[in-house]
Amino acid sequence: MENFHDLIVNRRSIRKYSEEEIPADKVKTIMEAALMAPTSKSSRPWQFVLVEDSAKLEALSKCKEGGAGPIAHCSLAIVVAADVEASDPWIEDAAIAATYIQLQAQDLGLGSCWIQIRGRYTSTDIESETYVQNILEMPDTILPVCIITLGYPDETKKPQNTEKLLWEKVHIGTWQER
Ligand SMILES: Cc1cc2nc3c(=O)[nH]c(=O)nc-3n(C[C@H](O)[C@H](O)[C@H](O)COP(=O)(O)O)c2cc1C
Repeated sequence: MENFHDLIVNRRSIRKYSEEEIPADKVKTIMEAALMAPTSKSSRPWQFVLVEDSAKLEALSKCKEGGAGPIAHCSLAIVVAADVEASDPWIEDAAIAATYIQLQAQDLGLGSCWIQIRGRYTSTDIESETYVQNILEMPDTILPVCIITLGYPDETKKPQNTEKLLWEKVHIGTWQER
């Protein structure tokens, strides 16, 4: 594993992927990371649907009006969902698991991108959550929060620029405008 800070500096959203498949052991490592993510009261309300089938990926890429294109050509899409009846902070729990997936993927040399589902709509005004649930035959109470696309990068991006971090967002002791 590379130094954790370097991993965060180097992680960028990758939206273009090569055709190379992700080996099963790497998928397992990624899902282990997701299943170890912290959750409120250890309720573990998340559910994950792994999709590799190209026809399903193509259909999922139409889950919202814009910004879902990377799903069509990724090697693996992980739909990160949660049981809304299992825990009130289900959104936070799902978001943390999604972040674990992205960071674990980065450490394995994979590219990833978060595709927002919750609160989005298709071009025909269907809720993106419902659209994804229908394609993947998911129960009504399991709401998709996001889809994490994964694959070997087919684009290079500059690392984060640590010289341009928004330090004015950081307030020490009390809220003081900087
Ligand atoms: C909550 C959230 C929603 C996002 N939704 C999308 C999306 O729907 N489509 C997309 O291509 N990227 C999406 N992204 C990726 C962001 O655009 C990206 O993280 C941001 O531009 C910063 O770039 P970086 O990840 O390379 O640092 C999302 C990221 C987050 C955290």
